[in-house]
Amino acid sequence: MPRIAVTRLIPEPALELLRGHGDVVVSPHDRPLETGELHDFVRDTDAVVTLLHDTVDVAFLDAAGSRLQIVANVAVGYDNIDVEACVGRGVVATNTPGVLTEATADIAWALILMVTRRLGEGERHVRQQRPWRWNMFFMLGAGIQGKRLGIVGLGKIGAATARRARASGMEVVHTGRNRASEALETELGAAFLSLDDLLATSDVVSLHCPLKPETHHLIDADRLRQMRPTAFLVNTTRGPVVDEAALADALRNGVIAGAGLDVFENEPDVHPALLEAENAVLIPHLGSATVETRTAMGVLAAQNVVAVLAGRPALTPIAQAAQ
Ligand code: GLV
Repeated sequence: MPRIAVTRLIPEPALELLRGHGDVVVSPHDRPLETGELHDFVRDTDAVVTLLHDTVDVAFLDAAGSRLQIVANVAVGYDNIDVEACVGRGVVATNTPGVLTEATADIAWALILMVTRRLGEGERHVRQQRPWRWNMFFMLGAGIQGKRLGIVGLGKIGAATARRARASGMEVVHTGRNRASEALETELGAAFLSLDDLLATSDVVSLHCPLKPETHHLIDADRLRQMRPTAFLVNTTRGPVVDEAALADALRNGVIAGAGLDVFENEPDVHPALLEAENAVLIPHLGSATVETRTAMGVLAAQNVVAVLAGRPALTPIAQAAQ
């Protein structure tokens, strides 16, 4: 029987599927494994199901050994995986695109509404029992109708976020390494702009590009200064795409109007200055966090394992995947 290691508990339907195809060992810890523990845990396995906090690098692959056929990441992002090293060893690496698109776009859209309409601030105000009475000028936000949403990375999640924006009367533009298909640009009425032009002209900028060496700190102090002082930044991809210290400064100094963040540079830590910023909405990496979506992600990862162990191609190998 193949040995399948699961580095942290995943939904039962996924485990059930795996159990029909091998000896499944699930980490007993409700936390990410330390590097040494992780390496011990994956030793002599045929398949490993990983989470976004597990680093899959050469040392991991060395520890796993020559039996390893597949690393199935239960996430669409795969910045935790050295894909080239996997390919070099003949190990298939997979992720879970598609099944979390709508859930993650919901969170991007929720953050756009929360930050532009000051919903976090309002909620804190009521909860802390601070005095308030309805009045014409109390806690006014920024309307979004007729405003421009700039999507950085018009993949599946970016497009699903753009559709929500269009339905609410926003104009959409996009930028990224690759231009979207003509059909998608037409559907969304989304012109392709340079990053410079997108930052300078958007009322809301929503980040959906994957974290790669070239997108690390893509939004830094200079980029933030290119944005309008009335503009908002939303990040639902990976924290290190934004220089968090620069963002905290920009929020404090009115360089931009606000930010909605689902992801952070050093999760679960958050830059202390962001915690102080009333104009920042901060939520704990909830993009795909619905029962349905997490189950679908687990099951897709398990299906990838089953396919590869049976000698079939993976359903969603990383090389062909797009967010
Ligand atoms: C979550 O952040 C994911 O990449 O699936």
